[in-house]
Amino acid sequence: MLSLTDMAVEVLTTADGREKTALSHRHAATWFAARAAGEEIPIGTAQPPLRPARPEKPELLDPREVPRRRPGSPQGRIALLHAVAHIELNAVDLHWDIIARFPHVPFPPGFYDDWVKAADEESKHFNLICDCLESLGSHYGALPAHAGMWRAAEDTVNDIWGRLAVVPMVLEARGLDVTPGMIEVFRKAGIDNVVEAMEVIYAEEVGHVAYGSKWFHFLCGRENRDPKPAFHALVQQYFHGALKPPFNEEKRAEAGLPPDFYWPLAGES
Ligand SMILES: [Fe+2]
Ligand SMILES: [Fe+2]
Repeated sequence: MLSLTDMAVEVLTTADGREKTALSHRHAATWFAARAAGEEIPIGTAQPPLRPARPEKPELLDPREVPRRRPGSPQGRIALLHAVAHIELNAVDLHWDIIARFPHVPFPPGFYDDWVKAADEESKHFNLICDCLESLGSHYGALPAHAGMWRAAEDTVNDIWGRLAVVPMVLEARGLDVTPGMIEVFRKAGIDNVVEAMEVIYAEEVGHVAYGSKWFHFLCGRENRDPKPAFHALVQQYFHGALKPPFNEEKRAEAGLPPDFYWPLAGES
């Protein structure tokens, strides 16, 4: 029987996006079927690669070299969707990576339930956005994409505290801030299938931020650390730059992220 970390490594080492997400979905279904039946899938100790496998396309460029397009134009909308697809694909790997990377840190089974569910949802998000791209005559891989997306994972490869602070509680929380504006772009253009896909993503991302906050607070409670200063110190250590207002205070609150966690780290808007 494959351990959960074996499953994670299989996903991480699969390059093609559609294949990776299909495998991710199958492994999530296996995990939850076993949990429902009261059977135990071992967590194991598989060795994840430092970086996940990636398809030949898109070409990965330094963020400063990725061409900018006007968001109001059809080409700009395709570029925006392409960037979202790239983020979703990285998110699939980020959630499997947190499972595979830290098996030496003991957690209750609910920790794995949460990240397997999040990985499964990211897999759905990737496919939804790929379908949208294809409905507009493009596809994932048609444009260059940011090379820096895996940096937070590499920076926190030895630090579960830093990983939780930076990936779900900073990067995914940022997604909550910017998604309503993206939905508006597609609503104005009357592209309903994209609006629907992004609304699914927006609703589910609140959960991923909440998992981050939940397990960060769990670690703090277990080691008797004060969560707020611990979070501030970790973000300053691992995140490059200030957090960008305006913040989506409503959705951040729903996700268990109080204002005194992020406002002190904010730069100029
Ligand atoms: Fe997502
Ligand atoms: Fe997410």
